[in-house]
This record gives sequence, structure tokens and C-alpha cells, in this order.
Amino acid sequence: MSDELIFASEKIPDATPTVALRPWKILIVDDDEEVHSITKLALRNFTFDSRPRMFLHAYSGKEGLSSLAEHPDVAVCLLDVVMETEHAGLETASAIRSVLKNSFVRIVLRTGQPGQAPEETIIAEYDINDYKEKTELTRGKLHTLLYSCLRSYRDIIALDRSRTGLERILASSTQLQQKTYLKDFAKGILEQISAVIAPEEDTFYAHGHGIAAFEQAGELKVIAGTGEFSDKEQHSAIDILPSECAHILLDMTPGFKSQMTSAGFICLYRSSDNHAGILFLRDFQTRNELEGHLLHMFCHNALTAFENISLRTLLEESQREIVYMLGDAVEHRSQDTGFHLRRVSEISYLLAKKCGLPTEQASNIREAAPLHDLGKIAIPDAILNKPAKLDGPEWEIMKTHAEIGYQMLAVSDKPLLQLGAEIARDHHERWDGTGYPAGKKGTQISLPGRIAAVADVFDALCSRRVYKSAWEIKQVEEYFQLQRGLHFDPQLVDLLFENLAEFILIQQQFADKT
Ligand code: C2E
Ligand code: SIN
Ligand code: SIN
Ligand code: SIN
Ligand code: FE
Repeated sequence: MSDELIFASEKIPDATPTVALRPWKILIVDDDEEVHSITKLALRNFTFDSRPRMFLHAYSGKEGLSSLAEHPDVAVCLLDVVMETEHAGLETASAIRSVLKNSFVRIVLRTGQPGQAPEETIIAEYDINDYKEKTELTRGKLHTLLYSCLRSYRDIIALDRSRTGLERILASSTQLQQKTYLKDFAKGILEQISAVIAPEEDTFYAHGHGIAAFEQAGELKVIAGTGEFSDKEQHSAIDILPSECAHILLDMTPGFKSQMTSAGFICLYRSSDNHAGILFLRDFQTRNELEGHLLHMFCHNALTAFENISLRTLLEESQREIVYMLGDAVEHRSQDTGFHLRRVSEISYLLAKKCGLPTEQASNIREAAPLHDLGKIAIPDAILNKPAKLDGPEWEIMKTHAEIGYQMLAVSDKPLLQLGAEIARDHHERWDGTGYPAGKKGTQISLPGRIAAVADVFDALCSRRVYKSAWEIKQVEEYFQLQRGLHFDPQLVDLLFENLAEFILIQQQFADKT
């Protein structure tokens, strides 16, 4: 057919060294066997992006369609027009888009009868990507054709991958937050940039070096680092970033900025209330405009989501801090220096987990537990710190601390403080109904309240108080055995005994200095 075909048929070994890379699938649909063999021959040593090609063969429009249904990852379909019918090729092209809903595969129509159908009309109507005459089956022209088809196929796949990546990012940003969540999210962004933008065979990005940083208290702190930056978490980003990137941080105008510097890619998102998040990827280079655009889009979305999570995390952290500050105020007044609150928190958490509560609920109980004695703020010093047994009137005043703590906290609409209110109100109720302030019985007492009661007394007995000395663990065990079903929820006592070693460990871990 052409001189170039003879040139292309010189002996070249069939096995290529890049066999590990996935080949580009090329589907030839033609009722003429010769077209198949000529095309194969012309493209026998073709590669694109270091990946070889692989042929699939079909001999009618119908066969072509079922082959594509079976191989949705076909990159290019070379499609004959006239096969079992005059318009078999056109109908196949139409079915690929509308029935298979495959908008990725590049379709090239090939006709043996030039001028048979007007080219412009067909390209527009049938959503095909090129229209060639079979006289253009030479090696050179086929290579050029395939290059341009594969290039656009690759870019379409990349776009689609980016969309999937963004969906993943957005989905992960709505997941429930845990303590380590912001860090996980930041790490996820860094890792996903490679999944979104770089082809999978590009190993550099898979082991990329990058940081995600967020401004906390006026300082840009590294939240997550990958590669050489993996040990830089909590460092100041300014100290770590190459000097080429420094100036972008000085730009205080709100919005998203990104820049490809000689040191790598950096982008910054600054909100109108002057919070900032940055992503830096060392030595990262995009290879074309499309990749640059994808990277920009991805980072913009990621940083916006990052910012939302960061703000939420900051809020939670400040709530947690306030809780401990409030709790501490009580501890300081009551002269019982030490880690009582911390131990009650940890014991409550462990009990909650052993009850089978989900981690998030158990964590909430841990964070709210330090508020159980907040009401003691209202108890006079002379009573609170009396180094002896309280008399009747003193005891009546002391008992008000549960209700007072509840009243103080219940005005808040913050879930954590509301849980604190519940715990403050219920932590001195007893299973048998003899507790205070309300004399509730059994499961009328909230579960967090019952948990806090066990944790509070367990720790109080193990510790020294101004009015009592610390008990031996044997005595504590006896007390709980005795009070099972009286003072305490019997199931919680069972869990305490089943896991006693773990509870004692907490006691030792956060032991008071004497
Ligand atoms: P706390 O010292 O944190 O004790 C918490 C709970 O641990 C007590 O709640 C009680 O259930 C248990 N507990 C602590 N020490 C002992 C003990 O020696 N024997 C027994 N059986 N249980 C003990 P409770 O009784 O409702 O007391 C609430 C708070 O009232 C105590 O918190 C403490 O601040 C104060 N309080 C109770 N009794 C006295 C006392 O005799 N003198 C003084 N100064 N304060 C007391
Ligand atoms: C190839 O993909 O090069 C061989 C397979 C075939 O042509 O059917
Ligand atoms: C293929 O069919 O293997 C090519 C799709 C791609 O990974 O870009
Ligand atoms: C494909 O395999 O068809 C495209 C997805 C990819 O290249 O990862
Ligand atoms: Fe109390």
C-alpha cells in the first residue's frame, strides 16, 4: 500500500522492555482483514508516554460494540464506516456514546469511499474525534493520528481522575472529626495530589516531599509532612520553606494564590479573617497546561476544605482548653493538687469504651468529665478544705455542688458543655436511689453520669484527700464489690473488675507527685 509500510516491517523484537507498563488499548473495527494487519504492522513499535499499545479486533459494528462493552478502557477506536450495513460504523459510534455511555474513548472513523459522507456533519453529529480516509493508513500518518488521540485520551482520563480526587477530598472533609483528624486530612491532601495529577508510573510523586501548614495563633505551623518533611510536624513553616517561597507568605490579601518556583510548587489560601493554609511540594513540576490547571483547582479546593476543618478543630481545641481551665480552677481551690481530673477523664473513657460506646462518644465523655465538680467553685473554703468530717449543715452545702455545676453548664448550647452539665448533675446519684441531688434510680441516671460516678469514687478512694488518706487497692476492690448494685451500676462494676489491671495502670500513669 505504501513505501512506509515496507520500512516499518524490518525485524524488531516483539517483546518490549516496558512490558510492565499497562498498554494503551486500540480497538480496530473493520470487516476487511487486511486493514487489521496493515494497521498492526504500521504501529508495531508504537509507544506513547513510554507505554506500548495493544490491539483488539472486531469485524463488524456489532462486534465492535460488544468489544468496547467488555473493555471500557479502550483508548482509541479505529472504526470502519461501511460494514454489515452502509452506516454500521456511524451507528456503532452513536451507540458507544449513548448506550455504553463511554465518552472517554477517542473514535476515528475510517472510510474507503472518500466524500461518502460529509466530514463536518459527521464529526459534529456522531461525537467522533476524527475522520480519515483509508488511504491515510500509512505508518507516518497513523503514528501522528494515534499520538494526538492518545494525548487527548490521557488528558480526559486525567481530568476525570481529578474530578474523582476532588470528590474524595470533599467527601473526606465531611467525615466526622477526631483528634488527629486535621493531620490525617492534611496528609491525605499531600498523598492525593499524586493520585490526582501524576500518572501512576511516576514514582517521584508517589514518594513526594511536601508539607501542609495552617496558621495557628499567628504562626504557620506544619500540620503534616511527607517524604523528607515527615519529621517536621509542628515546626514553623517559615523555617522550613525554601527562600524562593517566602514572598508568597507575605501577601496578606485574601484569596488563593499558587506559584511554580524553582524550588517547587507552593500555594496559599488566605481567608478574609486572615487565616492561612499552605501546601508546598518540593521539586514538583507540571508538564503541561492541563496539569497546571488541575493542580491549581485541586489545591484550591483542598485548602478551602482544609480551612473549614482547621477552624472547626481550633474551636474544639479552645472548647477543650476552657473545660480544663474550669476544672483546674476547682482543683486549685480544693488543695487536692495533682492529676485527679486527668485520671477521672481517662478512667471514664476506658469505662465508656468497655461499655461498647463508639470512640467518638467515649471521647466526648473523656472531654466533659473534668467538669463533674465544677459546682465546687461555689462551696466556701472552710467547708471544701476542712481537714475533718463535715457536720450536717456543712454536708448539706457540700451536696449542692452537683446541682450548681449543672446550672452553670446547662445554659450553654455547646454539646460538650451540655454533656458536662449532665455529668455534674448525675455523678453523685446512686444506683439504688439513695444518692443526690435528685435521688434517681438505676437507668434514670444518665450513662455518662453512672460512668463518672465509678471513675470519681475509684480515684477518690485511691487518692489522699484533705479529709482522708489514700486506700489500698484491696480496700477499694472490697468497697466496689460491696457497693455493686447499691452505689454503682452493677454492669460497670463488673467491667471495672474484668479490666482492673488497665484501670490501675491509668492510676499509676497519672500518679500525683508526693
Ligand atoms: P471527693 O473527695 O472528690 O470524693 C468523691 C466521692 O468519693 C465521694 O462523694 C464519695 O462517694 C467517695 N469517697 C471519697 N472519700 C471517701 C471515703 O473516705 N469513704 C467512702 N466510702 N467514700 C469516699 P461524696 O461523698 O458525695 O462527697 C462529695 C465531695 O464532698 C467529696 O469529693 C469531697 O470534696 C466532699 N467531702 C465528702 N466528705 C467529706 C469530709 O468528710 N470532709 C471534707 N472536707 N470534704 C468531704
Ligand atoms: C498486539 O497487540 O500487538 C498483538 C495483539 C493483536 O494484534 O491482536
Ligand atoms: C489503558 O487503557 O490502559 C489506558 C488508560 C490510562 O491509564 O490512561
Ligand atoms: C483507565 O485505566 O482506564 C484510566 C484510569 C487510570 O489511568 O488510572
Ligand atoms: Fe463531686
